[in-house]
Amino acid sequence: MTTQIKDLAHYKELYKQSVENPEQFWDKEAQTFTWFEQYDKVCEWNFTEPKVKWFINGKMNISYDCLDRHLPDKADQVAILWEPNEPTDQATSYTYQELHDEVCKCANALKNFGIGKGDRVIIYMPMLAELAIVLLACSRIGAVHSVVYCGFSAQAIADRTDDAQAKMIICSDYNKRGHKNIPVKAVVDEAMNIGCNSVETVLVHKNTGGEVNWSDDVDRWWHDEVPNQSPFCAAEEMDAEDLHFILYTSGSTGKPKGVVHTCGGYMVYSCFTFRNVFQYKPGDIYWCSADIGWITGHSYIVYGPLLAGASSLMFEGVPTYPDAGRFWEVCEKYKVNQFYTAPTAIRALMAHGDSFPAKYDLSSIKVLGSVGEPINEEAWHWYNDKVGKGKAPIVDTYFQTENGGIMITPFPGITDTKPTYASYPMPGIQPILVDKDGKEIKENNVEGLLCIKHPWPSILRTTYGDHERCRQTYFSTFKNLYFTGDGARRDEEGRLRIIGRVDDVINVSGHRMGTAEVENAINEHPSVIESAVVGYPHPIKGQGIYAYVISVDKELNDEFRKEINAVVAREIGPIAKPDVIQFVTGLPKTRSGKIMRRVLRKIASNEADKIGDLTTLRNPEVVESIKQGVLV
Ligand code: WTA
Repeated sequence: MTTQIKDLAHYKELYKQSVENPEQFWDKEAQTFTWFEQYDKVCEWNFTEPKVKWFINGKMNISYDCLDRHLPDKADQVAILWEPNEPTDQATSYTYQELHDEVCKCANALKNFGIGKGDRVIIYMPMLAELAIVLLACSRIGAVHSVVYCGFSAQAIADRTDDAQAKMIICSDYNKRGHKNIPVKAVVDEAMNIGCNSVETVLVHKNTGGEVNWSDDVDRWWHDEVPNQSPFCAAEEMDAEDLHFILYTSGSTGKPKGVVHTCGGYMVYSCFTFRNVFQYKPGDIYWCSADIGWITGHSYIVYGPLLAGASSLMFEGVPTYPDAGRFWEVCEKYKVNQFYTAPTAIRALMAHGDSFPAKYDLSSIKVLGSVGEPINEEAWHWYNDKVGKGKAPIVDTYFQTENGGIMITPFPGITDTKPTYASYPMPGIQPILVDKDGKEIKENNVEGLLCIKHPWPSILRTTYGDHERCRQTYFSTFKNLYFTGDGARRDEEGRLRIIGRVDDVINVSGHRMGTAEVENAINEHPSVIESAVVGYPHPIKGQGIYAYVISVDKELNDEFRKEINAVVAREIGPIAKPDVIQFVTGLPKTRSGKIMRRVLRKIASNEADKIGDLTTLRNPEVVESIKQGVLV
């Protein structure tokens, strides 16, 4: 088992070692896993191509370490607990032995469909235990999974499937969320109609048993194919640098890119961070309420906890169903020890008042986690006081899809906590702040652009099918540095606070969105001439989506707004629908024709008085008219 930090002195010592001799440090951690063949070298890297390799020529299999490795002493321990959307429905659980058997059956079924090492599989499933099983089954046979968040549209599935050239899609029939019963298979059907030519099989898990359309050519039922398989399936021997998974995420330009993670480094880092950030102890019940469609779910529902031999709770539903006490009811029911969620959920629940958390016994909670977006002071205090009763330290964990695992965080009971500060780097992480010219800012009490100096085991290796895009996006802004795209502040004592994105990426309810992506979707409406999208402060979502739209041939009314929203939902998914649509006659542009988003951001944020210099604008007159029509 990877090292678990004991106290502040231990953290400082480990951190020092990890910076002074990263290879030795990670070698020691990696040795706590199973290597079918030892690696020859710990790390090779440069940030110019970029090329990063960890545990070179080592052979392993992450599903083996998640499952088989625990069977001698944890076969009967619960690996996954599953809580359904309906509180009155049957909850289920899987011991490590049961999970092993189910994963093997699924892996054998995938093999029967001709899926093998390196083949890409798209997964579009709600938060069912089968989703975790599918991830591990892919890992077991060396297939590369790419989970598409179950709220994305058919177009989004088709784009990702085509980019990954996936051979298979795995989905369910429907998705139960709160009062809703959302069609899932029907969305895949539509995706298959508009693209997905590489797909040979669609494997469908029956969740609700609702009606579905069926194509005998490609569709196969899970219940016909999986349960009758053998519960043994040898774990494929993977090279540490073989592809493990692709996860698509939004950037400041173009379509979402496929962030590539590889097997060995991801295994070591997801487990190491899980054990340390949550201070997981044997017997604890750990719950991360994220969706497996995002990196947090990959690393902190499935891989990190299972690698660490933990009991990980999965929840199918939403925080406000049947009422705003559901999270706390579930915490009480399972005596959850570590609870990990997003600020947007905390803010939404806070709005329902203190009586909900007060109704439940939350005394089991030892650690509270926050992830995905900046947590504001008010939400931090509410979480700390009303949920943790001042006794459960909050770990405000910072990381990105590209990072694979948590980068900056307090350590509960070990380092102090300060509202809104993600605080300290994990051992092995060397964050620095630079100014816009890339010069390192060494003093404390400053703001700067957040970069990382040295690779860690689960840094992204490439963007699928387009290495140049990876170089451009993360490694070309500043020489020899990984650039996060985030701005950060460092206080007097060296704690880091993440301020937010400095590029055209916005974070809406913890969902990462590219403004260009939303604009492209809006522009699909035939009556839209041009649009510009910016983020603005939103009390619950963190950031809301504000769209400025130019159209000449339509009545500029709510009907038109609805149509635009429908187009965005079709192109990306309902989560990308603008909160505000303002019709404008022009957009502020520089002489070279670039939209000056700074101006639009200020107007949307009700800070028009702080717009600043407009002398480089080609059409400064539009600014006044946009200001007149502002909608927030
Ligand atoms: C933001 C989510 C402030 C940040 C795990 C980053 C945060 C983006 C925090 C990545 C935090 C994540 N405090 N901001 N604790 N955690 N972010 O790829 O802007 O969906 O760049 O990964 O979320 O989002 P992603």
